[in-house]
Amino acid sequence: MTQTHEGKTAVVTGAAQGIGQAFAVALAERGARVVAVDLADCDETVQRIERLERVEGTNAVAIRADVSDPGAMPRILAAARAWGGADILVSNAAIQEFVPFEHMNFAQWRRIMSVNVDALFHLAQALLPDMRERGWGRIVAMSSNTFHLGMPGASHYVASKGAVQGFVRSLAGEVGVDGVTVNAIAPSLTRTPGTSGGPQDAQGQFEMAADRQAIKRTESPADLVGALAFLTSDAAAFVTGQTLLVDGGWAHA
Ligand SMILES: NC(=O)c1ccc[n+]([C@@H]2O[C@H](COP(=O)([O-])OP(=O)(O)OC[C@H]3O[C@@H](n4cnc5c(N)ncnc54)[C@H](O)[C@@H]3O)[C@@H](O)[C@H]2O)c1
Repeated sequence: MTQTHEGKTAVVTGAAQGIGQAFAVALAERGARVVAVDLADCDETVQRIERLERVEGTNAVAIRADVSDPGAMPRILAAARAWGGADILVSNAAIQEFVPFEHMNFAQWRRIMSVNVDALFHLAQALLPDMRERGWGRIVAMSSNTFHLGMPGASHYVASKGAVQGFVRSLAGEVGVDGVTVNAIAPSLTRTPGTSGGPQDAQGQFEMAADRQAIKRTESPADLVGALAFLTSDAAAFVTGQTLLVDGGWAHA
């Protein structure tokens, strides 16, 4: 594996499982040190990183934190600063549920927004100053192709993923001058612990998604790693404010 991310420190949220775990391991494989943040235990992710063939030394640390809680940011910042400060932020942690709008209450709406949108605010506020000071930074946030398609029963989730796209589009214009890029990735329905065994399986949504995509199979976290590796690398220095649809061609089919 080419060490495209050697010397970089990456904060990856939602790193205990699914796409976030794949991202954390992929960045470590490319040479980055990883601060793996999750409400859940990230030990498995850290162990997978420690098993990689690497130069000696610790390359990953787990932080148990709620990313919607501003009070958690000092711990995340301190962990990144122990390695010189965050160069890369991957804001991946999110929650999803299906509730028809007529049954949705404001607490449910706010819960989705606090994890999927407010956390992006808190994390970027905490980690951006170090990136700007060093003149290099990469922020990648997870959106979803449901923003382009709509998803009945998930108006709060889809609105939150649209907010992510608006945020990266605008913040990019403020921080490009300091060498920081800000982008989003929008997957199709992806097989992860978060989507397996729930309504998506019960309603045959994986089969439906595969059928609607140009590439007719279920997306996996591994399908997203190339986009993440690119957007967080030097090679993507002139790519900012964008949302990259990595959805097997659904939105275009
Ligand atoms: N899987 C899909 O089909 C799909 C499709 C489009 C977009 N996405 C997006 O990709 C990202 C990852 O999806 P996934 O399917 O791997 O998710 P997942 O549900 O499998 O894992 C999410 C992780 O985030 C953590 N998390 C949740 N709330 C948190 C909080 N408040 N603080 C810290 N950690 C928290 C969970 O503990 C979990 O480990 C999400 O942003 C999701 O919206 C996923």
